[in-house]
Amino acid sequence: MNINWPARIPLGYFPTPLEPLGRLSRQLAGPQIYLKRDDQTGLATGGNKTRKLEFILADAVARGADRLITLGGPQSNHCRQTAAAAARMGMECSVVLRGNPPPQSLGNLLLDDLLGAEIRWAGSETREAVADSLVAGLRAVGQRPYLVPLGGSTPLGACGYVRAMQEALQQLAEQRIDIDTMVLASSSGGTQAGLVLGALLGGYRGRILGISIDSPQAQLSAMVHEIAFGAAELLGAPSADPAGRIDVNADYLGGGYAVVGDLERHAIRVAARSEGLLLDPVYTGRAFGALLDLIERKVIDRRERVLFWHTGGAAALSAFSAELSPR
Ligand SMILES: Cc1ncc(COP(=O)(O)O)c(C=O)c1O
Repeated sequence: MNINWPARIPLGYFPTPLEPLGRLSRQLAGPQIYLKRDDQTGLATGGNKTRKLEFILADAVARGADRLITLGGPQSNHCRQTAAAAARMGMECSVVLRGNPPPQSLGNLLLDDLLGAEIRWAGSETREAVADSLVAGLRAVGQRPYLVPLGGSTPLGACGYVRAMQEALQQLAEQRIDIDTMVLASSSGGTQAGLVLGALLGGYRGRILGISIDSPQAQLSAMVHEIAFGAAELLGAPSADPAGRIDVNADYLGGGYAVVGDLERHAIRVAARSEGLLLDPVYTGRAFGALLDLIERKVIDRRERVLFWHTGGAAALSAFSAELSPR
């Protein structure tokens, strides 16, 4: 079908590699696990936000924006990538972060600063309220701020993951690999929404399992559905109905968002020591931990072929040293 792609500004290195996790798959005695290396998109240590920002930045430029404003947690990968994209485009950037400043600027927070972003702490206010009043204040003095919503998870941002699914399906076809289940970390929903829509448009019939990082199942499913539906309209494919393809597992919320527990610690060590592969403490550590548990409990069969979307985030590791490497 003919896809009506919105404008896009290249910010990353694509296609990202698709590779087997040979040693780990053998250690587990199956399933065969493959990795889609979206941690290698290249933009200021990479990650899944690069693909979304390619479309969002094109829109910001078309609207004559002079500053990007976005929001996230103190270790937001999205804020770091947005700061990098703004720098690349010669724009200013403000990031509104939850809570108050920690004693030390580590991980993504350090990178936000190095990349030139102005950092605003929301304190006891909501990040959305602080970001909205920042936008209003700048508009009032004649500036042209552009608000990038949480996680870049809009229908426009999700187009990046429709493209990503196309890219992966082409690599899988070239390498003659049939995937039964794709697994990813899902939080603000844009990545999963794009993959689901990309699967519908590209003819992938296997499972796409989003491991919820911080929301109950019904809430995240509804978010993914709304974004995928909006993206389908945007791309001129409104007949693609994502409803039946949205699969969310919310059994691994642990102690809450960005709380590192045994599941994440174990997964990060297993990936690092069996494959020299760095996962992150908040998203991919949790989602990969969930995958290992589902394999252990035989929910995912050892004869399956699994593709894990590595969505990045290792830049945050040093900020979690106390939790990851307790002395
Ligand atoms: C490393 C990483 N993986 C996965 C996600 C989840 O992506 P989404 O917010 O599109 O659901 C994020 C979001 O911040 C992330 O930083």
